[in-house]
Amino acid sequence: MSCFRRPWVICCTVTALLLIIILVTSTTLYFTVFKPKQPKITTQSVTLESFSTNIFDMTDTNVTLGITVEINNPNYGGFKYENSTSYVRYHGEVVAMAPVLADTIPARGEHSVSTSVLVIGRDLITNPSFLFDLASNTLNFTSTTTLKGKAVVMKVFKKKATTISTCDISLHILGKNSTSDCSSKVEF
Ligand SMILES: *[C@@H]1O[C@H](CO)[C@@H](O)[C@H](O)[C@H]1NC(C)=O
Ligand SMILES: *[C@@H]1O[C@H](CO)[C@@H](O)[C@H](O)[C@H]1NC(C)=O
Ligand SMILES: *[C@@H]1O[C@H](CO)[C@@H](O)[C@H](O)[C@H]1NC(C)=O
Ligand SMILES: *[C@@H]1O[C@H](CO)[C@@H](O)[C@H](O)[C@H]1NC(C)=O
Repeated sequence: MSCFRRPWVICCTVTALLLIIILVTSTTLYFTVFKPKQPKITTQSVTLESFSTNIFDMTDTNVTLGITVEINNPNYGGFKYENSTSYVRYHGEVVAMAPVLADTIPARGEHSVSTSVLVIGRDLITNPSFLFDLASNTLNFTSTTTLKGKAVVMKVFKKKATTISTCDISLHILGKNSTSDCSSKVEF
């Protein structure tokens, strides 16, 4: 009897050992190299791209803001984000928006997302703060760029993440310059 059993036991043991090794190796790889990680926003900025004002009528002021968000993808796989929109708010109300086209950030790469948003002064005039802000020479805006996406590593491991970049922008009308203060967070 034992003559038949012995090879079977050896075979079983070897198979079990191999399975354990494969399991341990893949688990280790998963938790070290291939585990999908969330992307990071490395830099974000707002620049004043153009500023035109009518000296006879200050309410006829147009402002183009350039919004740039740089995202780092630490994964061994691309981070694919969906079509999105950048919004500019003035005292809480959306006054301008610009599309952000879907794209993929390459594996272990950095990618910058830029968009230009045009704010038309005439659209702000209904806001009760506008004339007051004009008089104080400062218009404050908040820009928000949200990117919803998914990191896919080796077609198997997936992680959803949403990056949210927010900037508080202070526009000095007479100086035709602006300052901004940005913050970001990543949700999933
Ligand atoms: C602002 O933009 C509007 C609409 O595009 C245009 O009619 C107006 O002339 C512009 N004003 C200035 C000062 O550039
Ligand atoms: C994203 O927007 C572009 C241009 O508007 C469009 O061609 C494309 O189909 C959109 N993609 C998705 C996934 O909606
Ligand atoms: C605009 O923002 C700056 C900096 O956050 C602040 O000091 C200033 O009081 C704000 N001005 C208005 C008109 O809200
Ligand atoms: C922007 O313009 C204002 C008013 O002219 C000036 O006081 C301020 O120093 C300027 N800021 C920057 C960052 O250039």
